[in-house]
Amino acid sequence: MSLVSLNDILGRAEEEGYAVGAFNCNNMEIVQAIIRAAEKERAPVIIQASQGAIRYAGLPYIVALVREAAAGAAVPVVLHLDHGTSFEQAVQCIRHGFSSIMIDGSQHPLEKNIELTRRVVEVAHAAGVSVEGELGRIGGTEDDISVSDAEAFFTDPEEANYFVKQTGVDALAISIGTAHGRYKGVPKLDFPRLEQIRRAISCPIVLHGSSGVAAEDIKKAAKLGVSKFNIDTDIREAFTGAARDYLAANPLEIDPRNVLGPAREAATAIIREKIRLFGSSNKA
Ligand code: G3H
Ligand code: 13P
Ligand code: ZN
Repeated sequence: MSLVSLNDILGRAEEEGYAVGAFNCNNMEIVQAIIRAAEKERAPVIIQASQGAIRYAGLPYIVALVREAAAGAAVPVVLHLDHGTSFEQAVQCIRHGFSSIMIDGSQHPLEKNIELTRRVVEVAHAAGVSVEGELGRIGGTEDDISVSDAEAFFTDPEEANYFVKQTGVDALAISIGTAHGRYKGVPKLDFPRLEQIRRAISCPIVLHGSSGVAAEDIKKAAKLGVSKFNIDTDIREAFTGAARDYLAANPLEIDPRNVLGPAREAATAIIREKIRLFGSSNKA
C-alpha cells in the first residue's frame, strides 16, 4: 500500500472508539518490527521519525525504509515527522514523501506557535499531508520540575479550542501529565482536563510519552478521546535489552544479525502488545 495520512486512519478510530499506535523508528530493524507487528495484528500504524532519528539515519534512508515497508504491507501506514522544529524542515519532509508532519511550536508563545503551525498546515494540506500541532509542554522525565510546576505547562482547554480553529491542524498533542523517556515515579494523568479538552476541540487528540503509562490509564485515556499514542522508550528498552542479553550470553559473538535479530523480535512483541492495548487490532 502507499502511505496514508493521519486523516485516513484517525477519523475511523475516533468514530469506533479505539486508538492507533505511533511508534518511533531509527533503523531498519525497528521499521521491520513495527510493520511486522502491525501486519500480525492487522492494524493501521503510524511510523514516526524524530529529530534524533533523522540525524542518525538520514532523511532519505528513513523515507526509503518506510516506503519500502509500506509498499509491501497489507495494512495502512503513515510516515510521520515527530516533533518537527521548523517550517523549512516540514517542507523538506513533505518533498521527501512524508505523509504526515508534526510541527511542535509548543516552546513558543501562543501566537507564535499558531503562526508557525498555520504556515505548515497551508503547505502540508496543499500536498495532501496531515499536520499534528502541540499545545502545552510535554517535558522529559529528566526535567526536574515539581508537579505544580508541570501543571503550569498543561494544555488549557479554551486555548486548545482557539489553537485548533486558528491553525486548522488535523490532530493536537496535549499535555496532561505524561513526559518523554523513563518515568522516575508513577505518572499521574489529569483525566478531568482531558475530558474538558475533548469537549472543547473536534480534532483527534495525541498523547506523547505513552511508554511506561499503566495499561488501565492508557485504556481510560483512549476511552476519554485520545486516538494516537506515541511510543518510543518501551521499544528502545525491549530492543536494546534483547541485544544486551544476547551479548551477555554470547560475549564472543561478532555477527550483528545474531545480535539484532532477537532485538527485532523483542521490539515486535512489545509493539503487538501496545497495538492490542490501544484497541486497533483487526482495524486495518
Ligand atoms: O520525542 C521523543 C522521542 O523519544 C525521540 O527522541 O530525538 O532521541 O530520537 P530522540
Ligand atoms: P516515550 O519515549 O516516552 O514513549 O515518548 C515517545 C514520544 O512521545 C515521541 O514523540
Ligand atoms: Zn513526543
